[in-house]
Amino acid sequence: MAHTSDLIAEDIDAYLLAHQHKSLLRFLTCGSVDDGKSTLIGRLLYESKMVFEDHLAALEVDSKKVGTQGDELDFALLVDGLGAEREQGITIDVAYRFFSTETRKFIVADTPGHEQYTRNMVTGASTADAAVILVDARYGVLTQTRRHSYLVSLLGIGKVAVAVNKLDLVDYSQDVFDRIEEQYRDVAAGIGLSDVTCIPMSALRGENITARSGHMPWYSGPTLMDYLEGVEVDDDRQAGPFRMPVQWVSRPDLDFRGFAGPIVGGTVRVGDRVRVVPAGTTSTVARIVTLDGDLDAAVAGQSVTLTLADEIDCSRGDVLCAADEPAAAADQFRAHVVWMAEEELRPGRAYLVKVGARTVGASLSGPEFRIDVNTFEQAPGTTLRLNEIGVCDLRLDRAIAFDPYDDNRDMGGFIVLDRLTNATVAAGMLRAPLRRSHNVHWQAVEVDKRAHAALKGHRPYVVWFTGLSGAGKSTIADLVEQQLHALGVHTYLLDGDNVRHGLNSDLGFGNSDRHENIRRVGEVSRLMVDAGLVVLTSFISPFRAERATARALVEPDEFVEVFVDAPLEVAESRDTKGLYAKARRGELPDFTGIDSPYEPPEHPELRIDTTASTPEQAAKAVVDLLRRRGLLDGLEPGPA
Ligand code: ADX
Repeated sequence: MAHTSDLIAEDIDAYLLAHQHKSLLRFLTCGSVDDGKSTLIGRLLYESKMVFEDHLAALEVDSKKVGTQGDELDFALLVDGLGAEREQGITIDVAYRFFSTETRKFIVADTPGHEQYTRNMVTGASTADAAVILVDARYGVLTQTRRHSYLVSLLGIGKVAVAVNKLDLVDYSQDVFDRIEEQYRDVAAGIGLSDVTCIPMSALRGENITARSGHMPWYSGPTLMDYLEGVEVDDDRQAGPFRMPVQWVSRPDLDFRGFAGPIVGGTVRVGDRVRVVPAGTTSTVARIVTLDGDLDAAVAGQSVTLTLADEIDCSRGDVLCAADEPAAAADQFRAHVVWMAEEELRPGRAYLVKVGARTVGASLSGPEFRIDVNTFEQAPGTTLRLNEIGVCDLRLDRAIAFDPYDDNRDMGGFIVLDRLTNATVAAGMLRAPLRRSHNVHWQAVEVDKRAHAALKGHRPYVVWFTGLSGAGKSTIADLVEQQLHALGVHTYLLDGDNVRHGLNSDLGFGNSDRHENIRRVGEVSRLMVDAGLVVLTSFISPFRAERATARALVEPDEFVEVFVDAPLEVAESRDTKGLYAKARRGELPDFTGIDSPYEPPEHPELRIDTTASTPEQAAKAVVDLLRRRGLLDGLEPGPA
């Protein structure tokens, strides 16, 4: 490493010790390609002398080669490390960089400023203590400045430095700076950012970055480095009540049972009363165990193992809390959601939500409203697309411990995962539990599913037929129903065309309508299973995730998925309703198989190759499967 503190050479132990006890500031930089953000970060790294020697050599060569800055070093090249980015001239992903000065260590999250990259900013910001927002002095506060500021505020980053850059290009004018500061303070006040410091600078010339500028005698505030070294990071987390999400329960032998996890709020001491949330049980901390021996106390930021005085139920995902100030428990929330996937939000679809160490099944409502991050205005909308932000209701399949995001980012921040691919599709902030969850209880009834089933004399379940239009679903389902009926089974057939005449007559064939169609059919099937019936459904149901949602509504052994497989050419050649021809003529948009997708099941309980079997053979295959699964036990053919 070039030029680092002389201590490294003289006394490495003292150097390391000094560094170990320095505080750490995580900050985020936001700005666009042209604001000079890369140059600014390059400067910070260079002037803090934490540039590796070989990097420096490469930089000199590169600067000459690319040559946008004459003979001077081009600091942007230091940061725009990736070849592809350099060629495009933009920074495209979150990059974390480390540097340190005599007083502090820093981690910078560098996120691109392009509109489509809100996602990256959210990723980079999740742990930041402060943000540096770049403004080009020539242009002042722009739409993107408002956008960055909104996101910074949404993510709960309290400290903001506004780096008013390129003062050299406006003759170091105090007027220009003052006007921008005034403009910015207006914006900040509107979105609740109160701790704002505006700094005039030239990153390119290194003015007011570390060294003060001789050109701006009118400015007496801190340089950017002064600001970063001095900004107070009040660790709210340590001030708040004790919280520890249990990551795992360690049980090496019968005498030891420890709950391990990161402390994300407050302090815990031996002898403290703690409460397990959501269960509500309480106990006392017996020991605080770490690899380096037991502690008397531990604080937010540390990871420890606690043992408790009593044998109480507590497992992974539960949160140990201060007994007298526990986190709340709820299963429905109002939340801000930032959508991060190419595929839009499907309201009602089954997703997974991860909060702390707990992952639970969840669905999201369509947005109550979307937020235009440029104007801060609320806009209506039925879904969220990539990089859009909205306020949605979140329904979890069980209660979790939580604090509002504003009180504790670890307890109130969550991500949304796709159930099938496990990819992160959104991030969000829990704001408040919904009262609904307290007021609407599931009404327990005496005559329940078992009672209904007992009277019917057989088990209830769903046989879910899926496949292209014209594959033969309805024909086969009809035959299966006849055979079951003859065996004395209480059945009901829900057929796409029929249901779309009544219950779902308000729905069309766009993706979200199809989704709603299947959601309702899933719910109706669940009710019918509860009533003790065997339900046969015949819907294209083209999306895997929707079928998975329907499956998840009943018990695992109560759902039999039958894939009625007909190649598109075959279904199209049958064209019993003449719809394929219409679709091919362009008179029927969104037709499955033509200009709307069909996702075949990956693991259906039964696949019927309709090119190789007649409807009668197919129906027999279904009934045989039900018999093999024990679903027809005890049933005899009735009188013909
Ligand atoms: S689903 O995709 O939402 O599951 P569903 O099974 O209810 O579809 O309805 C499909 C039936 O609607 C088809 O059998 C066909 O008769 C009719 N239909 C009308 N328009 C379309 C379309 N655009 N795509 C598919 N089916 C359509």
